[in-house]
Amino acid sequence: MEQLKGLILSGGKGTRLRPITHTSAKQLVPVANKPVLFYGIEALAQAGIDQIGVIIAPETGDEIRSAAGDGSAFHVHLHYIVQEQPLGLAHAVLTAQEFLSDSPFVMYLGDNLLQGGIVELVNSFRAQQPHALILLTPVSDPSSYGIAEIDSGSPSDARDVGGGADLPAGPCVSRRVVRLVEKPQDPQSDLALVGVYMFSSAIHHAARAIRPSRRGELEITDAIQHMVDSRLDVRAQIVEGWWKDTGRVQDMLEANRLVLDNLSARVEGQLVDSTVEGRVVIEEHASLHHVTVRGPAIIGAHAVLRDCYIGPYTAVGERCTVVRAEVEHSILLQGASVCELDGRIESSLLGRNVTVGRGAQQPKAYRLLVGDNSQISIP
Ligand code: TTP
Repeated sequence: MEQLKGLILSGGKGTRLRPITHTSAKQLVPVANKPVLFYGIEALAQAGIDQIGVIIAPETGDEIRSAAGDGSAFHVHLHYIVQEQPLGLAHAVLTAQEFLSDSPFVMYLGDNLLQGGIVELVNSFRAQQPHALILLTPVSDPSSYGIAEIDSGSPSDARDVGGGADLPAGPCVSRRVVRLVEKPQDPQSDLALVGVYMFSSAIHHAARAIRPSRRGELEITDAIQHMVDSRLDVRAQIVEGWWKDTGRVQDMLEANRLVLDNLSARVEGQLVDSTVEGRVVIEEHASLHHVTVRGPAIIGAHAVLRDCYIGPYTAVGERCTVVRAEVEHSILLQGASVCELDGRIESSLLGRNVTVGRGAQQPKAYRLLVGDNSQISIP
């Protein structure tokens, strides 16, 4: 098979993650203190893909370029491709056509996380060489997703996925795709499309053949359906492990929880009079005085924590400050501070340099400076 390229989609509007995305790309929001985009780049690198196109939007592209650079930190080459408007995933493929040329490629949504990487999936794509291989996972609410109906008969081709022709149906067995439906009202399957796709160059013809959907986008599901209708070999595999689309705050927190669950403990910062329980990472130059951290949790470099409690599933970013406060199941972006609070910050996402604290003057008054589309709940 020709050399496989990568295409990471890191443009888009990010409306569901406002207000964070008013000032920053959603793909750079950290999960366990690492931008979500970096997990995708690492997954492609691990699968042996070193030429990766990165779709960026004019508004947030520079920030993504400066965060991910030329790719050398990941031992890959990153090629940035500006998509002037977010006109859909299939439109992003067309925008990248010059970079992709006729190569087969893996398309990875830059705000998605897939546990366990994509090495096996890429290997089975390389071995089977279908026109498209999509990844699926069972979901409890199929009407919120793009759903695939697959051939319930025998596996379309099991010969290359595990070394034997008589493999039982399982995660590495691919099946033929019969139909794709975007957010079906009456779902015939509970298998949702995961944000990683593998395509031969046949996708370009399909992406050019389709028309924009009702929401005005060139949908990748329509392009894949076009391939199915053209009797091309479109297959699906069920992914093992979890998959997360971090497009909404709850999903971001959930992804943070899942990644922190696999953390290996490491303490490099300075602890004075402090207790650390469970799997906790404390990065270098963080300083903790009279603090309890109950893992899994991560405390970023140069964070300053005093007289506080950090509960499970919390990621405190670089240079954050937490003083006389409690924080649990939350993500604090770089430079955020939480000081002098009676209650506990819980299930929250605080943007860069956000400050949360009690006002000095009136004990019962709230003094706020909050951006558009923020959410604050006060008991
Ligand atoms: P989505 O999350 O589907 O779209 P979005 O970023 O516009 O988000 P929202 O619905 O909250 O407004 O996109 C999935 C990924 O693909 C994400 O990383 C953004 C990227 N993307 C592009 O690069 N170009 C596009 O045209 C679209 C629609 C998405």
